[in-house]
Amino acid sequence: MSEQTTAAGSAAAVAPPPGGMAGAAALAAGMAPAAAGLRTDFCGRLRIADVGRVVSVCGWVARRREHGEHLAFLDLRDYTGILQCVVDGAHDLRAEYVVRVTGTLRRRPEGTTNPSLETGEVELHECTVEVLNAADPPPFSLDSRVETDEIVRLRYRYVDLRSERMQKNLRTRATVTSALRQAMEGNGFLEVETPLLWTPTPEGSREFAIPSRLQHGSFYVLPQSPQIAKQLSMVGGIDRYYQIARCLRDEDLRADRQFEFTQLDLEASFVTEHEVQAFVEDAVARAIAAVTGERPAPALRLSWAEALERYGVDKPDVRFGMELVDLKSVFAETAFNAFRSDAVRALCFPGGAALGRARLDALVERAKGLGAKGLVWMRVVPGDGGGLALDSPVVKFLSDVEQTGLLTALDASLGDLILAVADERRRACEVLGQLRIDLGRPPVYEGPWRLCWVVDFPLFDGVDDEGRPQAAHHPFTMPRPEDLDRLVSDPLSVRAQSYDLVLNGWELGSGSIRIHRREIQEQVFAGLGITREEAESRFGFLLGAFRYGAPPHGGFAVGIDRLVAILAGEENIREVIAFPKTQSGADPMTGAPKPLTPAHLAELGLRVAPTAGPNAPGGARRG
Ligand code: AMO
Ligand code: AMP
Repeated sequence: MSEQTTAAGSAAAVAPPPGGMAGAAALAAGMAPAAAGLRTDFCGRLRIADVGRVVSVCGWVARRREHGEHLAFLDLRDYTGILQCVVDGAHDLRAEYVVRVTGTLRRRPEGTTNPSLETGEVELHECTVEVLNAADPPPFSLDSRVETDEIVRLRYRYVDLRSERMQKNLRTRATVTSALRQAMEGNGFLEVETPLLWTPTPEGSREFAIPSRLQHGSFYVLPQSPQIAKQLSMVGGIDRYYQIARCLRDEDLRADRQFEFTQLDLEASFVTEHEVQAFVEDAVARAIAAVTGERPAPALRLSWAEALERYGVDKPDVRFGMELVDLKSVFAETAFNAFRSDAVRALCFPGGAALGRARLDALVERAKGLGAKGLVWMRVVPGDGGGLALDSPVVKFLSDVEQTGLLTALDASLGDLILAVADERRRACEVLGQLRIDLGRPPVYEGPWRLCWVVDFPLFDGVDDEGRPQAAHHPFTMPRPEDLDRLVSDPLSVRAQSYDLVLNGWELGSGSIRIHRREIQEQVFAGLGITREEAESRFGFLLGAFRYGAPPHGGFAVGIDRLVAILAGEENIREVIAFPKTQSGADPMTGAPKPLTPAHLAELGLRVAPTAGPNAPGGARRG
């Protein structure tokens, strides 16, 4: 296939590029030099200092431009960047051909430098070109300025991965996991692998099942997380466990959710919740520093109740203000019916008085869509005598004292917009919390990086249709010792020793101190409506382990895809996963999920019910 052969033997061994993170890590790790290979250098690393050197570079043809009758400019791309090569116009070199070019590096002639390219001051000339492989025309342009339909990108992901964006994102991901590993190992955590072929666990998500060939009718379940396995490793004396763990959950996919995702999963024995949090925060801060060069400020700390009061959510974005304000005392005696309610909460949107009527009406509809009975908006406008006044359809129902009280409580300024909801306390807070995000929230990936611990979650989060409490986190979470005696009498008031870490309003991870005593675990299962027999048949192995010396322990899991997405400047975790699924759970590249052959089904002892299949309701949909 070679058009022209060159003396490959003269090529010196190519060291990994110093600027590359992977390269730097490899050098730091004392990587052995490669034997003489196809190239001496990487395209994107050549600079003025290299002028005069004879170099060999390898890569893909990013672009070809004719230059006069006999010459062509070739933009050659590898993962480090692009290098311009001046080649003989006779070569048949098309987009995405894989080539090796050997030539002499020279300074570009006066007036032809390209400041937007890191190698823009140099070019390779007197080139010999070797086509290592021809290529069909690419299915889409890899030019970062051209937007391509995501399904097409995913169908040809192997081409998409060559793009600058995906190269950068996957390298950021590797930097993050490497920093996390170093942090965990530095703190004495041992990496232990746990099984993928597992058994159902009550962690709240639908699970993927794998039929057993040897025991027809029996199934393994893919782990939602290594939760139980890591707890058993504590019983096993591992003391400090960690794993970069794949987790599988058959849940509805969203921007921050995939079927398969990766956690930094950890567990430690004989620890307090503060110690677990310190380990986690150290690891996350080191990962952020590895990517951005800056260690984030120490995390804020809010109780779950306070997060709900001040931000209306359990994952507050504390990068901006617009905190919720309790107006109950201002409207204690109000004549305005809508505000004679369990709770009245409001927020102040700076500059929001400029919103037109259509936007305000849309906000009212949004609030109702979120479950509020209504939404009052009030523009802060100039009042008589240089003071402030309110402009709102309901202002006529509010006394002067109430209006002044409102402006003071919200610390409102001219041009602001006040939004108020009266309702049951939690609903009022949650609706305003959502409006606060709708109106004020910067993109998740925009710095500064603001970490926030949310602690003291309730153990149970409401009740199901049959009045049984629902576990807020998972049923292995230890209640607060001082609340234990209310486990049966008043379960909804019991607080848990659980905690979440939030970054820029995204839940990055959660964890808890676990139950390590059999009788407490049985009580919590009972509270959840899991009968003794059911508990025994489903988690007998865990309850059994608690008889044999289970140490007190606790842990955490960080969603690595989410952390990487935020650091890579992406709003969807698909962009930081090499081979993700689409929103409907399909893989446009492989075609998965696909039917199995009848022989394969028979071997597994399975028969597909007639309603199942790609076209049935609820069946697998394509791309
Ligand atoms: P949890 O279920 O809260 O806790 O998960 C921890 C973190 O994992 C990430 N995550 C996801 N990321 C992408 N796609 C998904 N479908 C997805 N689901 C979860 C989130 C989340 O915060 N075993 C417990 C942890 C523990 O208690 O130690 C657990 O898995 O960032
Ligand atoms: P109504 O008396 O229902 O016509 O409502 C008068 C105004 O108060 C309208 O702008 C409603 O959107 C608003 N409103 C009604 N109920 C509530 C509530 N619970 N909280 C906030 N605003 C409300």
